[in-house]
Amino acid sequence: MKPIGKVLCATAFVIGFLAVFWKDSFKPETLSGARVLLTGASAGIGEQMAYHYARFGAEIVLTARREAVLQKVMEKCLALGAKKIFYIPADMSNPLEPEKVVHFALQKLGGLDYLVLNHIGTTRFQMWDGDVEYTRWLMQVNFFSYVSLATAALPTLEKNQGSLVVVSSLTGKIPTPFTTSYSATKFALDGFFSSLRHELSMQKKNISVTLCILGLIDTKSALESTRGKVYLPASPAADAALAIIRGGALRMREVFYPGWLHLVCCLGVLFPCDPALQSFYSPQGGPGSSPIPCNPTPAPAVAKYH
Ligand SMILES: NC(=O)c1ccc[n+]([C@@H]2O[C@H](COP(=O)([O-])OP(=O)(O)OC[C@H]3O[C@@H](n4cnc5c(N)ncnc54)[C@H](OP(=O)(O)O)[C@@H]3O)[C@@H](O)[C@H]2O)c1
Repeated sequence: MKPIGKVLCATAFVIGFLAVFWKDSFKPETLSGARVLLTGASAGIGEQMAYHYARFGAEIVLTARREAVLQKVMEKCLALGAKKIFYIPADMSNPLEPEKVVHFALQKLGGLDYLVLNHIGTTRFQMWDGDVEYTRWLMQVNFFSYVSLATAALPTLEKNQGSLVVVSSLTGKIPTPFTTSYSATKFALDGFFSSLRHELSMQKKNISVTLCILGLIDTKSALESTRGKVYLPASPAADAALAIIRGGALRMREVFYPGWLHLVCCLGVLFPCDPALQSFYSPQGGPGSSPIPCNPTPAPAVAKYH
């Protein structure tokens, strides 16, 4: 047999061996009756997570800003098998909202097993245009509100040996073009929650912290903001959602989705190569080229609870 044939045979053997003996330890039935507070639940990956948790029989509180959309997601979750489900409209650019949302969830569910932090403010996928106020606003929505939500939920998570799941991005590990403010918020999440993981462990508090590093996912907002500016394939939102839920349930330190992102992150840190990275991005992402209008004005607090 030629050497190439031997290599192919050996590779096939290793893959076959792994397929037979590698079993996924994720057991969806462990999520039946689990009490979950999920943010950014009205669209994209958060909406898909809501449907998975519902199929697994979880008790869920959904939150995002748009009440009518949350209502529709809630109805679909009920049809899919959610044991209990509630929603609370809230705008995370308002610093008073995170605590209210956690109190609402505690009142409705009697405690929490999972806090899944997923929402983001409108992302400008463009070159830095000097708008410091927008960065400040995005920090509130994408970072400070996560800190406030987690802080309010820590006592109940400690009591229930629960899990904190934080959705981040490749741009929170490796900075990429057109994501100055967004990338900053995601790096901040990594710093804060990875440090918190150490402190919880040092204090023997049994709360897991799972940081989820995602590549480009085919949500409406991501596809709209990156169209014509990035040459990368987008992975399905439903699969990304399942990878996040699985990682949280298995109390993993970090989740990379798609899986090859882990290798990209390691290589990017060990052998940074800016021209290679930039070749995936169109130079047309100049200031003002984002098709999505961004409104950094905080919306008024919403007082309707369900
Ligand atoms: N899609 C990707 O390519 C990609 C890649 C890497 C990482 N991620 C991460 O995955 C997560 C989900 O992304 P996605 O693409 O699914 O986002 P998305 O489709 O844009 O959904 C964002 C969610 O956040 C909510 N939201 C927006 N502004 C809010 C505010 N001020 N207060 C409270 N909720 C707000 C939205 O609902 P309302 O409008 O109703 O408020 C919506 O439910 C994010 O953490 C993102 O960084 C995504």
